Amino acid sequence: MIRVENLVKRYGHLAASDHLTCSFDENQITVILGGSGSGKSTLLRQMTGLERPDSGSVWFDGIDLTRAGKKTLYEKRRKMGMLFQGSALFNDLNVYENIAFPLREHTRIVENNIRTIVTMKLEMVGLRGSESLMPSQLSGGMMKRVGLARAIVMDPRIIFYDEPTSGLDPVSTGVIDKLIRDLNTKLGITSVVVSHDIESCFRIADKIIILYFGRIIAQGSVDEIKNSSDPRVRQFINGEPEGPIPFARSERDYLDEILMT
Ligand SMILES: Nc1ncnc2c1ncn2[C@@H]1O[C@H](COP(=O)(O)OP(=O)(O)OP(=O)(O)O)[C@@H](O)[C@H]1O
Ligand SMILES: [Mg+2]
Repeated sequence: MIRVENLVKRYGHLAASDHLTCSFDENQITVILGGSGSGKSTLLRQMTGLERPDSGSVWFDGIDLTRAGKKTLYEKRRKMGMLFQGSALFNDLNVYENIAFPLREHTRIVENNIRTIVTMKLEMVGLRGSESLMPSQLSGGMMKRVGLARAIVMDPRIIFYDEPTSGLDPVSTGVIDKLIRDLNTKLGITSVVVSHDIESCFRIADKIIILYFGRIIAQGSVDEIKNSSDPRVRQFINGEPEGPIPFARSERDYLDEILMT
């Protein structure tokens, strides 16, 4: 469905994507795991054509998105849905207008039909009746669900979720997990989920990719990852504070930096 080849993206000296090669299969839920700053969001931005890599390719629907012109990219991106980290709702638009936005932007669907589509999407995320609420009046879990309704409003073939459950209580997390699964099984939507929630990942993933400082250190099924002997993978899935994964990522040694000032 989508294939990333030798992707490199640098910010200054830091390689946020360091020669990434992986594929995301049709009809599957692939979860990208990794600690904070490991390059998950950066990878998603490149896969959705929001940002161009320094080198490498992103193959989707027969073309390399990294070399596509504006018009082609725009057309391909209509087949993609995106739930941004932090939902990224428009604060000055109510729930209805937030969800209707992509339809107004990309189509000429008349208002009556827009209303029907928005109602259907709100029903899917369990928020019918919240049309007139403003984002500031929503709980964190509701915001994610509105973001999700907006992500699916164009009936995408693939949905990218950036941290769909972060900051949510276990029940809301379960609701979102179930929604992701349902969209995948009932509508056959391919899903790419960025997460650092291991439990949620194990519940929904068909395939897991683990990033570490911009590199892939492991990929495979839930069982393969659970049984990995790589100490970095073990530390990550067990949430251990001590181990090969450092908490901070800095070019300079801490002591050097302190002594310099
Ligand atoms: N636009 C940018 N300019 C400079 N550096 C950036 C930019 N975007 C990301 N980075 C850096 O790239 C690295 C990876 O960032 P990214 O946002 O992809 O991490 P992440 O895995 O999504 O982390 P988190 O789990 O905290 O969201 C970080 O060190 C970050 O500071
Ligand atoms: Mg991120």
